[in-house]
Amino acid sequence: MAGNTNLAYRRLCRRFGAELTTTEMVSSMALHHNDEKTLTYLERGDDEEPVAAQLFGSDPEILAKAARKVQERGFHIVDLNIGCPVPKITGGGGGSALLRDPELAERCVAAMHAATDIPVTVKMRAGWDEQDRSAPEFAKRMEQAGAVGLTVHGRTREQKYTGYADLKVIQAINEAISIPVVGNGDVVDLDSAKRMAQTGVAGIAIGRGALGRPWLFDQTRAMLAGDVIPEDPTMQVRAQLLLELGAGVCGIYGEHRGMRIMRRLATDFFRGISGAPTMRKASHALESMADLERLATRISDSANTDPSQLNLDDSRPS
Ligand SMILES: Cc1cc2nc3c(=O)[nH]c(=O)nc-3n(C[C@H](O)[C@H](O)[C@H](O)COP(=O)(O)O)c2cc1C
Repeated sequence: MAGNTNLAYRRLCRRFGAELTTTEMVSSMALHHNDEKTLTYLERGDDEEPVAAQLFGSDPEILAKAARKVQERGFHIVDLNIGCPVPKITGGGGGSALLRDPELAERCVAAMHAATDIPVTVKMRAGWDEQDRSAPEFAKRMEQAGAVGLTVHGRTREQKYTGYADLKVIQAINEAISIPVVGNGDVVDLDSAKRMAQTGVAGIAIGRGALGRPWLFDQTRAMLAGDVIPEDPTMQVRAQLLLELGAGVCGIYGEHRGMRIMRRLATDFFRGISGAPTMRKASHALESMADLERLATRISDSANTDPSQLNLDDSRPS
């Protein structure tokens, strides 16, 4: 997830049970040109395996070259973004725009597959709009082009982040193809995870629901395995996790850029907590680890009014 799934955040998710993590999406064109900022999105830890790097773009040749670079950087999987609805991305023909050009999407995946020895996967949406029923056929084409796995966000491009993910489309795609399908969209607790699992998918991808709550991965796994479900951590532990995340992010990006990233990430740690509005203000003004420590103390001292209350609107991409 852009702005979120940096190495430090992925480490936190992995510690709490995420089995496969993915970088923020990166521009294949920028990677091809060795753009320095883009390379910082591709920090990888030797301790994370398997980890995927996600590319966006619509030029098969450039995507192939970028996929090769992803492989050289030690990633285990290269994923193609066919879901992003943001005009900045679709305007260049990438992200969800590829849903409208299956032939080009197929060529992109085939080129990435031919250029690398690592598995190529695809992240797609349920279609362009409500009238579009081509998602299962599109998924088949991705499989034929060489994709070995598919993550489906059950919303259409037109929905962006409104409404709900359509689990029936995810199920239909899962039944139409033989490669593993990972279901995605609106998994925020154990009930929604159970509903997603009932579609028969091979895996579940959790985005916004795990922001600031990485323990949702462990809880989901335990629930699906019929094991005892771990409790939500105490506010003291959450505050500690926030500090660890801040230290990790600053370790990668330095304190200046790191704190700008943490201004967003920190807000996820006090959703549903009493005093959240004032903490949000403090989080938007973060300048240093000392500021983050003060915020963590406030979280640690606060009462958790409603641990399951999640406002997904807060975490939509702009
Ligand atoms: C802030 C933000 C950034 C995102 N960035 C990406 C991205 O880089 N690549 C991607 O495939 N999906 C991205 N997404 C979409 C999510 O991966 C996911 O498909 C969507 O939020 C639905 O799942 P969820 O309800 O579990 O969040 C992003 C979503 C948000 C809210």
